[in-house]
Amino acid sequence: MQIIKLNAIDSTNSYLKNLSRVSRIVDETVVTSKSQTEGRGQMGSTWSSKAGQSLTFSIFKRFYNLDVNKQFAINIAVSLGVLNALKNLNVPLLSIKWPNDIMSRSKKVGGILIENLLESGNVKSSVIGIGLNVNQTGFQDYPQATSLLLSTGNKFILDEVLETVINAVLIELKHLEKKDFQILKTDYEKFLFRKDVVSVFAENETDSFNGIIKGTTDEGRLIIETEENTLHQYEVKEIKMLF
Ligand code: BTN
Repeated sequence: MQIIKLNAIDSTNSYLKNLSRVSRIVDETVVTSKSQTEGRGQMGSTWSSKAGQSLTFSIFKRFYNLDVNKQFAINIAVSLGVLNALKNLNVPLLSIKWPNDIMSRSKKVGGILIENLLESGNVKSSVIGIGLNVNQTGFQDYPQATSLLLSTGNKFILDEVLETVINAVLIELKHLEKKDFQILKTDYEKFLFRKDVVSVFAENETDSFNGIIKGTTDEGRLIIETEENTLHQYEVKEIKMLF
């Protein structure tokens, strides 16, 4: 595995994506930066973390024969990889908030941004960006955020956490093409945040409704049972869990 360590960059995902446009990147290349000036999150959001206190890194992964319809399997594998790594570091009460927020004690400790390069019906490669709050204790304007330090009471050595997470994610990604997708999905659903309990969801700014998360479709849509006992499927951009 090749690792590029930077002090500052706009975004490690953008860096790897740009690099892959101009050169043939070695599979599993990792780029990590002490700080990001334009860290990106899901759905066009931003990702910020305090320089030198948390981890922001991206992994370049090539795929052979991975159908575009199986894109969600990458999210599943990466989420499970991060979760397994945190389990090994004794982080308590871990879960995955759909589609791929990593939670500890019901608060977000890590985020994942996966950007795929598609070609002729296949996923050719992915840039897998991971932001993990490690020794950070203040999260301005993000009361739902936590860190490994806040959740465990222990300070962590960033390089050790980085190595643990990379190894665990690469193991799950190796399994991806071999492993039965349904096994991965069953594993993922075991850790799904607020599964089988009533939560409040919003489809837009004004309307909210009660529903129960029952699982996910193979394509990654969230399956929610509503009060009328009917099942509905939602895309990431269609719904927000309020609590
Ligand atoms: C999210 O939860 O919205 C996803 C956050 C992903 C953040 C990581 S930090 C490293 C990589 N570079 C980025 O610009 N974003 C991802």
